Amino acid sequence: METTETTRTLGNSGMRIIALGFGCWAVGGEWQDADGQPLGWGKVDDEESVRAIRRALDLGVTFFDTADTYGAGHSERVLGRALGKRRDDVVVATKWGNVFDEDTRTLTGSDDSPAYARRALTASLRRLGTDHVDLYQLHLSDADPVRAAELRDACEEFVSEGLIRAYAWSTDDPERAAVFAAGEHCAAVQHRLNVLQDAPEMLALCERAGLAGINRSPLAMGLLTGRRPAGRPLAAGDIRSNPPAWLPGFTAGAGADPEWLGRVDALKEVLTSGGRTLAQGALAWIWARSPRTVPIPGFRTVRQAEENAGAMDRGPLTAGQSAEIDRILGR
Ligand SMILES: NC(=O)c1ccc[n+]([C@@H]2O[C@H](COP(=O)([O-])OP(=O)(O)OC[C@H]3O[C@@H](n4cnc5c(N)ncnc54)[C@H](OP(=O)(O)O)[C@@H]3O)[C@@H](O)[C@H]2O)c1
Repeated sequence: METTETTRTLGNSGMRIIALGFGCWAVGGEWQDADGQPLGWGKVDDEESVRAIRRALDLGVTFFDTADTYGAGHSERVLGRALGKRRDDVVVATKWGNVFDEDTRTLTGSDDSPAYARRALTASLRRLGTDHVDLYQLHLSDADPVRAAELRDACEEFVSEGLIRAYAWSTDDPERAAVFAAGEHCAAVQHRLNVLQDAPEMLALCERAGLAGINRSPLAMGLLTGRRPAGRPLAAGDIRSNPPAWLPGFTAGAGADPEWLGRVDALKEVLTSGGRTLAQGALAWIWARSPRTVPIPGFRTVRQAEENAGAMDRGPLTAGQSAEIDRILGR
């Protein structure tokens, strides 16, 4: 259902989308770093991924976020295949900056040079089966700001060549995001935002600079769905089974952290008001948080796609409900 509360314009790009994107990290399947640390979400069924993406399209989702590195190229291929002739009906966002080996599905390093950005873009276009990327995003969250300014200029060249329509930086640092925001065709910043992990400074930057906030981990990597009980380890090959330092809320070998689940439990009544599921309530909180937000929940099944797209039917939480959540969390 399209309402003014659930549609967004990406910066000044003119691209108008439903305020819900689908995040395609998990559908990339398994990949790892050179030490064997899993970087994907475990095994996936590509046919189910394709069905889930097409179901999302049927339910009105018009924005998909992926990265060249998810599944070492696999996520882009699956997304391109699923979109097929409907490519021009949607806004496709991908990312670059990490270097990987497609054959061994291994992350091998990173490259912040403009020359690599052009090579990475060419490869993404091929895998996605398209002639342009709508939103091209720098994936190196803590890249050097001086180098990033060069990459921003490279992105301006890509825009003038018609290879991309707009660009963004995926970072949680507002000062870095501001470096990209200075570019004419910067339309967004991708940053973490969920009801347990607020991002007031980044949202303030989005407001000041007229950017959309593309919100990753809107379900706190599954914790906000109520389907990750404490003490149940995640499958080997799932990044959450052996979480790196930047991934809180999970413990190696022990699954979801009881303290995080306790906070989810405390919010349950408010988030599930009005017939929402917990995941739908988590998305509704984000829409209520700021009119610039675009949550991009991950998914890997048709059922998850339907539940997450269904959040649009009920729109944002009320201001009173958001205030109640702040009170419960002591914010
Ligand atoms: N650096 C970056 O740029 C960066 C980093 C992180 C994410 N992202 C982007 O943001 C997207 C989303 O963030 P995220 O992957 O961190 O996590 P998320 O959206 O917070 O959580 C997604 C996970 O929650 C579970 N889930 C989703 N919908 C569900 C439902 N309705 N019911 C039950 N479980 C459900 C699924 O995992 P299970 O079924 O396995 O539990 C799913 O993979 C990614 O796909 C990616 O596109 C970007």
